[in-house]
Amino acid sequence: MNPILEVRDLHVHFDTVDGTVHAVNGVSLDLFAGETLGVVGESGSGKSVSMMSLLRLIPQPPGRIVSGSARFRPASGDLDLLSLGKREMAAIRGNRIGFIFQDPMSSLNPLLTIGDQIRESIEQHTSKRDAQARRRAIQLLDQVGIPDPEARYRNYPHQFSGGMRQRVMIAIAIACDPDIVIADEPTTALDVTVQAQIVDLMNRLSADLGIAVIWISHDLGVVAGIAHHLLVMYGGTVVEYGAVDQLYAHPRHPYTIGLLGALPKLHVNEDELVNISGTPPSLFSPPQQCPFEPRCPWAFETCLNSQPPLFDISPDTGSRHASACWYDLDRDKPRASGQPVAEWDKEDATL
Ligand SMILES: Nc1ncnc2c1ncn2[C@@H]1O[C@H](COP(=O)(O)OP(=O)(O)OP(=O)(O)O)[C@@H](O)[C@H]1O
Ligand SMILES: [Mg+2]
Repeated sequence: MNPILEVRDLHVHFDTVDGTVHAVNGVSLDLFAGETLGVVGESGSGKSVSMMSLLRLIPQPPGRIVSGSARFRPASGDLDLLSLGKREMAAIRGNRIGFIFQDPMSSLNPLLTIGDQIRESIEQHTSKRDAQARRRAIQLLDQVGIPDPEARYRNYPHQFSGGMRQRVMIAIAIACDPDIVIADEPTTALDVTVQAQIVDLMNRLSADLGIAVIWISHDLGVVAGIAHHLLVMYGGTVVEYGAVDQLYAHPRHPYTIGLLGALPKLHVNEDELVNISGTPPSLFSPPQQCPFEPRCPWAFETCLNSQPPLFDISPDTGSRHASACWYDLDRDKPRASGQPVAEWDKEDATL
């Protein structure tokens, strides 16, 4: 099965007065139809910049997509998102690929009714007009769990709670039956109960509608409940990738191990939370070593001299697992040269 989205070696820089910020340094990923890929990592690790670059939503300048490819395979074709023209991109964005951001208030127009905003999006991307577009908008409000959708259609954003506004954003994101939805911290601004409701809603919609979801979060607890695969980012690179169960049971990158150790546990005092000591790498110079080396308990000489590629450490079960670490934690020794580097372009790739 071919992935619906195949990103290879994405590099994104920002030119600032202080120098060039190397925000994304060789991100690759595969997203399969209908699956949810969780993207986790601490603040500044490049989650938003890499995913927003795919939709060309980063400010350019100062942002610059330096290199890479992003092969998107909807039913209607096969194209590289990074080399599309502006108009071609506009036809994909919000149509074949929907997106949801953390703060629905900044994405919604306060002066337009909720219904008109959904209808506008439908009219922009489909042949539906007027009454037909209105009917579709009301159907969408119903689908995302807004009670009394006909009356709510006429409300303004300020008349909705945060959770309801996020439901509206989801309605807009799925309005054109997209292949992919990119959700950037969609529940971070919501309280815990509402978070759980939004997670449930997204789970149900992606399963019912067969939408592939990229779910960005810094909260491992949230993505555990929604993702099939996880991509762990650090310093603008992918440090670990794998099926959620495998990755939680058997994390193999020291950073992921740290992150999992840092998960709040029930019945544990807040003060006892494990934190990864040290600070994230500076992104002003291109990484010539492992970005996690200064904070890594297993670091050795090789880690200082070169950036590790993603090694294929898939278990025999056929699920994919990869770690960008020079140290082989399974054997408790440095990785042998010649160990396979993750090469996911194989025909027999499975989920
Ligand atoms: N407009 C910009 N100008 C300069 N640097 C930027 C700009 N936008 C992002 N960056 C830098 O790119 C890096 C990656 O940022 P990004 O927003 O992708 O992080 P993130 O993983 O999404 O973090 P968070 O969890 O806080 O959302 C950061 O170092 C950030 O400072
Ligand atoms: Mg972000």
